[in-house]
Amino acid sequence: MTLLTRRTALISTLAFAGAFATGALADGLPKLAVKKTYKVGFAQTESNNPWRLAQTASMKAEAEKLGWQLVYTDAAGSAAKQVADVNSMIAQGVDAIFLSPREEKPLIPAVMAAKKAGIPLFLIDRGVDATLAKGGVDYVTFIGSDFLKEGTTAGENLVKIMGGKGIILELEGSTGSSPANDRKKGFDAVIAQNPGMKIVASQTGDFNRDKGRQVAEALLQAHPEANVIYAHNDEMAIGAISALEAAGKVPGKDVIVVSIDGEKDALQAIIDGKMAFSVECNPKFGPAAFAAAMSYAKGDTLPATMTNTDRFFDISNAKDSMADSY
Ligand code: AHR
Repeated sequence: MTLLTRRTALISTLAFAGAFATGALADGLPKLAVKKTYKVGFAQTESNNPWRLAQTASMKAEAEKLGWQLVYTDAAGSAAKQVADVNSMIAQGVDAIFLSPREEKPLIPAVMAAKKAGIPLFLIDRGVDATLAKGGVDYVTFIGSDFLKEGTTAGENLVKIMGGKGIILELEGSTGSSPANDRKKGFDAVIAQNPGMKIVASQTGDFNRDKGRQVAEALLQAHPEANVIYAHNDEMAIGAISALEAAGKVPGKDVIVVSIDGEKDALQAIIDGKMAFSVECNPKFGPAAFAAAMSYAKGDTLPATMTNTDRFFDISNAKDSMADSY
């Protein structure tokens, strides 16, 4: 198989990963030997929501399918623990590491430690600070969603729904994480272009359902005039719906709720008329991540960034998308 054919085969294997940016591998990047089986690490950031559980399940299922040994760690929401988890994987002599970094900056030492130890590292789902570590240079590649585009898509569709007028409460994801940073950036930029729309409060709910509920409750008390809640993930949106109902407001009527992910509870909320839409962020990384590692082992030049193609869920497709959700 030629290099070109192999890359084409990889791209079709990664139906999950739709668009590819370009980026060459530098000579200093650790190589991965071709072997029958591998011992690989997956450093998960936390397991506090269905998205994370679906991601872990997908990674474990793919490892099992291929007969690879998977060293799995859960950082339980601590960037410091996640750095220690990666160091422990290095000490255990894994062949490669898949890392979902909790935050952009604190995980840089883990990326650099793997490189120094000669272990190829693949970033999946979340990114790290691009000024401090680069795909194709410090780590092999980033596989994940375009979080900036997710925020922009949420903003543009919200503007349409609201006819250009709205008073918005924003529930941000985990501070310092790439999805929180980029979903805010993309969304806020769209809103800034619409003079009839205003974000009156923006606060972190840490991508967590109950924290989202608590923050929404406080923000609704401070801004009873708000008629939109934009949450950086479905879990916080579901929490916000509970806060709205507790405050005697009707989600979907008094306050429009929009979000990102596409988990089952959010699709149900769309069907129930409580949520307007959810921009997809697909958590099922197993096939794409392991295919990328195999391709890299064969000598393929992977792009520095491999971007997933995400869908958009609203009342037109929520019911039909249920079976495939998590
Ligand atoms: O990094 C992806 C985000 O992290 C998902 O939107 C969220 O649900 C998860 O915790």
